[in-house]
Amino acid sequence: MTNKTVFLQPGGGFDKVTIGTSEHAAPAAGEISVRLRASSLNYHDYVVVSGVWGPAEQRIPMADGAGEVTAVGPGVTEFKVGDSVVSTFFPDWLDGRINVEGFARVPGDGIDGYAREAVTAPATWFTHAPAGWSHAEAATLTTAGLTAWRALVEDAQVKAGDTVLVQGTGGVSIFAVQFARMLGARVIAISSSDAKLERLRELGAEHLINYRKDPQWGETARGLAGNGGVDCVIDVGGPATLEQSMAAARPGAHIAVIGILSGVSGELPLVPALAKQLRLQAVLVGSRRQQQDMVRAIDTNGMRPVIDRHFNLDAIVDAFRHQESGQHFGKIVLDI
Ligand SMILES: NC(=O)c1ccc[n+]([C@@H]2O[C@H](COP(=O)([O-])OP(=O)(O)OC[C@H]3O[C@@H](n4cnc5c(N)ncnc54)[C@H](OP(=O)(O)O)[C@@H]3O)[C@@H](O)[C@H]2O)c1
Repeated sequence: MTNKTVFLQPGGGFDKVTIGTSEHAAPAAGEISVRLRASSLNYHDYVVVSGVWGPAEQRIPMADGAGEVTAVGPGVTEFKVGDSVVSTFFPDWLDGRINVEGFARVPGDGIDGYAREAVTAPATWFTHAPAGWSHAEAATLTTAGLTAWRALVEDAQVKAGDTVLVQGTGGVSIFAVQFARMLGARVIAISSSDAKLERLRELGAEHLINYRKDPQWGETARGLAGNGGVDCVIDVGGPATLEQSMAAARPGAHIAVIGILSGVSGELPLVPALAKQLRLQAVLVGSRRQQQDMVRAIDTNGMRPVIDRHFNLDAIVDAFRHQESGQHFGKIVLDI
């Protein structure tokens, strides 16, 4: 089979995206071959492909990959031919305490990713996909799904009755709304768009704030939450949002420090963090075990991801331009 493959030339940039072919071998011991059917876009993929943090050498982009197993190497018992699988973000972080630092071994960044038709890799680089999900749906989980899951379940240990604040309507935030509702938590959501806020209401968000119209949205959210403030914040904005996130929080609340949408540095007022004894936890996606837990929860609860739009693999740059426009609600998918 010709293995159509997207390449990003050194340094990155939309004008450095080319399409060619690549090799993929038969699986050796412990490996599987996967016919990739879909990937999905994340802000992290955007900064790599657009050249903000472009690769030092030629790279196959995209961290997320889903498809079906086409061959199984000796010793692999977890998967069989025909299984639907989804890639993991950290091939080397299988379980237990965090043993990764940065993106040196992340597919689509430090190593080749999944913008291609087929790959052969260690079986542990994949997990089963949720039962009954399309490959496009499964491809939304690797980065955005697991980040939201890990922040809410592993780190914040959100429980029924808690109040969770989510920011914007990108991939991570929409998953955070859905998982928070699955856990029985109340959701306060902020967005720049009233139309998007209405769609958040349909997903189960109880209180909605337009952060453009209400720059002091942190105080507003604290009032709406009652009980001294929200229990958990999914912070994807970074420098422009952390101060308001702290304003929204109750004493002892958990703030998941996830995103850098408003920049990579800024002033962080420590007094409110100390006064409220907040727990600020930085997050980088999660482990393979956490992904397996997430898939099990999805299988049990029957949720489906929110897909904004599909693009063909050949139109990868158009897909990133759509993401760049900020019009999307949920995940943008590449069909392979
Ligand atoms: N640490 C990790 O493990 C991890 C994993 C995944 C993503 N991230 C980070 O999380 C962030 C979101 O990623 P994503 O892939 O979900 O992005 P995305 O799909 O591109 O989401 C972008 C959305 O965020 C909202 N937004 C933009 N600026 C905002 C601001 N200043 N305040 C509040 N909301 C804002 C906008 O929603 P509205 O149009 O509704 O306002 C925008 O549509 C990125 O910084 C990404 O790098 C981190």
